[in-house]
This record gives sequence, structure tokens and C-alpha cells, in this order.
Amino acid sequence: MDQDRIARVVAIDTATDMLCCSVAQIERTEPEPLMLAVGDHACRRRANVELIHTLEDVLVQANCTFDDIDGILVGRGPGSFTGVRIGISSAKGLAVGANLPLLGVSTLAATAWSAWSSGVRGLVGVAADAMRGELYPALFRLDDTGVQRLFERESVMKAAQAVEAWAALSEAHELLITGDGLLRHQSLFEQAGFAEQFLETDLWWPTGEGLVCTFLADQGLDALSSGVNDPAAVLPVYTRLSDAEENERRRLGQPMGEVPGATGVAEELAGRHLQVRPMAASDAEAAACLDQAAFADASHSSWTAPQFLSELAEHANSPRSWWVAHDDGELIGLAGGMVVEAELEILDVVVRLSHRRQGVARRLLAQVSYDAQMLGCTTASLEVDANNTDATALYASLGFKEVGRRPNYYGQASDALIMRASLPLRLPVNSELPEPTATQMRPWPRRRPKRSCEEAAELSRRRLTLAIESSCDETAVAIIDVDGKLLANQVSTQIDFHARFGGVVPEIASRKHVEVMVGVVDAALEEATAALGLDGGVLEPSELAAVSVTQGPGLVGALVVGVAFAKGLSLAAKIPLIVVNHLEGHLFANLLTEPDLKPPFIFTLVSGGHTMLVHVRAWGDYEVLGETLDDAVGETFDKVAKALGLGYPGGPIISRLAETGNPRAIDFPRAMMHSHDFRFSLSGLKTAVVTYIEQEVAAGRTLNLHDLAASFEAAVFDVQFKKAWEAIKLTGVQDYCLGGGVAANPHLRQMLTEKLGRRGIRVILPPQGACTDNAAMIAEVARRKLERGEFASLDVDADPNMTL
Ligand code: KG4
Ligand code: ZN
Repeated sequence: MDQDRIARVVAIDTATDMLCCSVAQIERTEPEPLMLAVGDHACRRRANVELIHTLEDVLVQANCTFDDIDGILVGRGPGSFTGVRIGISSAKGLAVGANLPLLGVSTLAATAWSAWSSGVRGLVGVAADAMRGELYPALFRLDDTGVQRLFERESVMKAAQAVEAWAALSEAHELLITGDGLLRHQSLFEQAGFAEQFLETDLWWPTGEGLVCTFLADQGLDALSSGVNDPAAVLPVYTRLSDAEENERRRLGQPMGEVPGATGVAEELAGRHLQVRPMAASDAEAAACLDQAAFADASHSSWTAPQFLSELAEHANSPRSWWVAHDDGELIGLAGGMVVEAELEILDVVVRLSHRRQGVARRLLAQVSYDAQMLGCTTASLEVDANNTDATALYASLGFKEVGRRPNYYGQASDALIMRASLPLRLPVNSELPEPTATQMRPWPRRRPKRSCEEAAELSRRRLTLAIESSCDETAVAIIDVDGKLLANQVSTQIDFHARFGGVVPEIASRKHVEVMVGVVDAALEEATAALGLDGGVLEPSELAAVSVTQGPGLVGALVVGVAFAKGLSLAAKIPLIVVNHLEGHLFANLLTEPDLKPPFIFTLVSGGHTMLVHVRAWGDYEVLGETLDDAVGETFDKVAKALGLGYPGGPIISRLAETGNPRAIDFPRAMMHSHDFRFSLSGLKTAVVTYIEQEVAAGRTLNLHDLAASFEAAVFDVQFKKAWEAIKLTGVQDYCLGGGVAANPHLRQMLTEKLGRRGIRVILPPQGACTDNAAMIAEVARRKLERGEFASLDVDADPNMTL
């Protein structure tokens, strides 16, 4: 900034069909920004394709480079979920790449300000399109001094309801209406008497200028130099939960006794192994027993069954969340709390003595606090006996701090501590990572590293590639050097957020990627800095040789986050972009074990989304010999585990059970075993397993889960071996390798190694940790593309349907 008087900012918003991308100059003495270049244009669903090129254009027009820019402003919505994420992810990439402040701005206010800039004054209602027949309605007062926001929080409403609310205003006759929601719902407004009160169509969207004005009014020029404008902290405004969470919330708001078994299967099975699920009315008696036993010698009274039952009934003003843990068919833990304003008050946490110190309380509290977050809580509080050091230590480790004390509350010399934590709790989901969603402010922009000449030369010789993977439910970042030495490998898994829904929820996956992306990238840069032994400060993106990202296949909303971020980083750090096929990544994971692996060879891909047998004739020359006709192998593991009420993901659970089972106990079908081709079919096997379970339960027999798991695995793996061996014979290759999440299965690894080894075939397996989704495998593909100079243009988009 020019003596803090003049600043230049880039303003981006892709929440609506208007792609806003402009460069503005702000002067302390001037009330309005000077627009140096305006690239705002209508762009339907192509924001991820057009944004970065538009930005390049406006920078040229404004005669600027990132060195002349003092900060990035980005619209946080509300708007289209994917649209908002494209803008925010790109902006995060830009801010990380150029080490610039990132500041979030309300898209709705930016729309009001764009009307203000064209001279509109009076009461203005922005009716932004929220899709599905809904609007984000927002009222503003525009006068000569500026725009005043007349609501506290953004909200979403049925269009008819929003129209009705505005029609009931005493100033309805003077209300001027704008916003892209009019495209769909204009007639509703007309019917309510607003026909003459619409602003001109070209004002219905936010503008770059509107974003800058909003920033100046809400935050002010000085905010740019606050030193704590962390791109990790800027998140979309959604106003609404994902559908899965919405259903979950409805369930939480209901008396839980009415909800059928949480797993959708016979309750007898659900209890066999430690699992966590919402408390049901049928748990009340056992819960009371557990509570009584735990607090037998405590001075305060325990909860009774009728009290638990009344907790499960509906509490409209202070919703409850109660979870229980079962093991071996018995209730061994419970936790619950209620929501009061924006705070979760934890009411009770109990774990049976025999199951303490196994993380049960943490798992239960993770669920309860996640529910509370869904219900809008930002903090959690509880009371605990100060003498109960086990409990206070547990809470402290979750981030709870003492905020008060009630002397002698639990009797003489037994104080109650009042503890409070901010949400999310510090849960040990991924203990290596620093908390990426921490609300505490960290300095940003960060200090630039100082490198000696030798260090700088070493860095440029090693040509580091940073790789990003976000195709499904892992946000992963790795850094590799040109010789294939892995310098960082970070994975932030979201499994806990999806497990309760029995599988990956795409909308939740996309949200989590946006939340953690910057944190995971930072963690990888720090890990690589340590691995390289650099003294002069943390590695920064401009010191890398390239950034690479998974382009597909996968969940489109999840892929888009990684791709948008990588493109922003590429432009701002002035390093080339490389895009990688996720399936090729699974194949290249084998090179982490055997760098000298050379085609031709046969490759089996067995993951959650794919089952393929591939003849790798040369690098990049893949002949897909056969695929599954229906379910993928990993998917089948997941579905079978779900049918058994064992949780998600099913692969690891089933393989653990199978360890002590008899693979010949049950004769499950081996579909397509003798089809004399390389196609697979797994849906019949899944049905056979489910039918078997039902029959056994109906006959009153106890299931042997170990035998069941081992027999199921054998049915899957026999077919895999047979077809792999036939493919090897057909092609005459000497080498065989495996990849994908199911390649982590120890029985499959051992069986293939033994059986193919006996037949003179060299079997190569990826490191066990590099089978499920990770970025090391993406990095391994990318470094070869770097050597060949195979770069992508900055208008690439995610491609959810890519094949090999
Ligand atoms: O490759 P991946 O992480 O994601 C996709 O690209 O699909 O594969 C995930 C799949 C899940 O279905 C999971 O159940 C399975 O891999 N999986 C396993 C094991 N570990 C993960 N399947 C069998 N045995 C395992 N040990
Ligand atoms: Zn995968």
C-alpha cells in the first residue's frame, strides 16, 4: 500500500450467474473506489473455466501484476453452493500463491451496493435466487451516505413466504426489488402488488464495484493491513445445511423413539461391535443403569429412565442430541447435551468402567458436538467435578478451558468446574495436522522466507511439485521432488463427518474441502520445509516448480474445490499447473514402492468407485481389459458392512473381522468367474450376503461375523485372482500391480503375492498407506508430467467422468 493511502484490490464473486472479477483502486481521501478494470460478465455455470483468464485480462487492463495488489476480496454468498465455492477456492489459491490478505464480503450487500452506485435510493429488497423455489431475501436502506443493512443474518425462505413477508411491511409500497431471484419469481412479486417496483434488470446481480463498496463500508481500508487476513478463515455463507444434514436435523427435532433402527438393519446385529448411534427410546433403561453404576459413589444423583425418555422427546426451543455406544450388544457409553442459544450445554457423559480410555467418550462427544454445530452452536460448556482428574484431562484435551468454579458444589471440598470450548472440538481425527479450522487469528500475510544462495540453488535444482487431491472425502496434499523423493504427505480425512450417513455425502465433502484446504496445504509446506532442513522460513508456493491437482474422476463438487484452488495458486505464484487423472494416481502409487517398475504389466484397480483390469502397455497407454458391470469392489465392502450395521467405510472393518474367520465357512457366489472375459459383477454377491443374514436371523441362529467376513472376502478375491492370472497369461507380461482403497486389504495383498509369485510373476503393491486416496500418488504422476513439460491451461475444469 502506498503509505496506507492508496490500495489496489482484486474483487471476485461467482455466487450467481454474474462472474465478478475486477481490479479497483481505493484512496483514503475518496469515498468511492476507482475501478481500474472491470471484467464482470454473465457466465452460466462456467465460472471455473472463465475466472482465471478473466482475472489475467483485468490485471493487464489495469496495468498491474500481483506485486501491485494489496488484497483480494471475495463474495461469500449466499448463492449457488458450487458457485460460491469456486470463487472462494480460487481466491484462497490466489491469496496463498501471492501471499496476500483475503477478505470475505457479502454477495447480497454487494448487490445492494451496485444499485447504490447507479443512483438508486430508498428501501431495497434483494431477492437472490436460492434455487429449489427458494430465495435469500435481504433488506437494505440506501441513502446518500451509503447502504445500511436491515437484517442480522442471511437467511433462506420459500419464495412465496419471502414475498408475503415483504408485502406485509408497512413500507411495502416504497420497497424497490432487485436480485437474480426475480428471473424465476417475478410473477409472485407481481401478484403481491410489486409490479411497478422492480429495479432495472441489469442491476439484479452483484458487481465488482459493489463488492469493493461493501468491503469499504463493512470493514474499511485499514482492514487490509490488519495482518490477520488469513485465507483459511474465509468460508462460504450457506444459510442452509446439506440435504442429508437437513434430514438429520429433522430427525433430531423429533421424538427419537419414533425413528426406526439407526442402521436400518436388525438391531440384534447392530450391537455386536462397538458402534456409536443416536440414543433411542429403547436405550433409556440401559442408559439409566449405566448412569447409576457410574455415579454410584458420586454425591450427585444420576439420570433415571423417564428423564432420558423426556430428553428424547421434542424440545423446540432447546434441541437435544443424545448418542450411545454399544459393544457386544450392550450399552457401554452415552453422551448428550442441549442447545441453548448458540451454546451446547453438555448434560451427561458416561462410559462403562471396562471401556474407559478407548476413545469412546471422544467419539460420543464428536457426534453430540457435531449435531450442535449443525444447530448453529459455536461453543460448548459443561460442569465437572474438579476432583475427577480423568474427566478434566479429557475435556482439556478436547479444548475445554475452565471459565468458572462453584465451590463445594458436589459436597465438601468437591468443587464443580465450569468449562467451555469453542466448536469444533479439538478431536483427534488427524493428530498430525494443526487445526485448520481454528478460529484464532494467525498472522497473514506471512513472513517471506530468507534463503541463502545455496538453499535457493538447491530448491531450484530439486524442482518441487505440490499435489492436491480432493476427489472424494480426503483432502490431501503432498510435495515431491523431481527425483521422486516425497517431502510431505498430508491427509485430512472427513470420514467421521460422513460415517453417520453411511457413506460419503457429496455436499458435506465439498464443504469440508473448502474448510481445510489452506490448512492442509500449509501443513504440507511446513512438513517439506522440515524435510529439506531449510532454516530461512517456511517454503512458499513461488519456490515450487509446479502445482498439480486431481482433475477427475470423482465427485464434481469436491473436485472443483481442488481444481479452483490449484489454478488460483498457479497464477498467483507464477508456477505451471499440472492436472492428474485420479485413476492414474492409484496406478502410480506402485512407483512409491518400486520406482523402477516399467510397462508392460497388468494392473488391477479396486477402489470405492472403480473395479478395472488394465493392461499397461506403456506409460499413458492403457488398455482397459474389463470393468465391473455394476458395483465396485470397495462399494460392495461398504454396502455389506452397512447391511451388518458395522459402520462406514466397510473395507477396513470387514478385513479386521475376517482375520479370525474361516473363508470356507459360507459358500458365496463367485459371479463371472467363468465368463471367459475380464468383466466383473458384484451386486449379486451383495444380495447373497444380505439374504444369508436375513435367513440366519429368521432362523434364530447367531451370526458368526468373522466367518461371514472371511467368506465374503474370499468370494471377491477368488474372482480377482482368476481374472488377473488370465490377463497375465493372455498378455504374457511378467509384472503385476494393484491399486485403489481395497488394495490396502492384507488378505488380498497376501493372496495375490503368494499365488502369482508361485507362478513366477513379480507382484508389486503400493505402500499400504498409499492405497486409499492420498496426494503422494498424484504427486508421483505430476513429477513425470513436469519433466515432460505437460502443463494445463488455466481454463481447465474438473472432469468427474474421466477414465483411464
Ligand atoms: O481408493 P479409495 O480411497 O477411494 C476411491 O477412489 O474410491 O477407496 C475407498 C474404498 C472404500 O470402499 C473402502 O471400504 C475400501 O476402499 N477399503 C478397503 C480397505 N480399506 C479401504 N476394502 C477392503 N479392505 C480394506 N482394508
Ligand atoms: Zn481413489
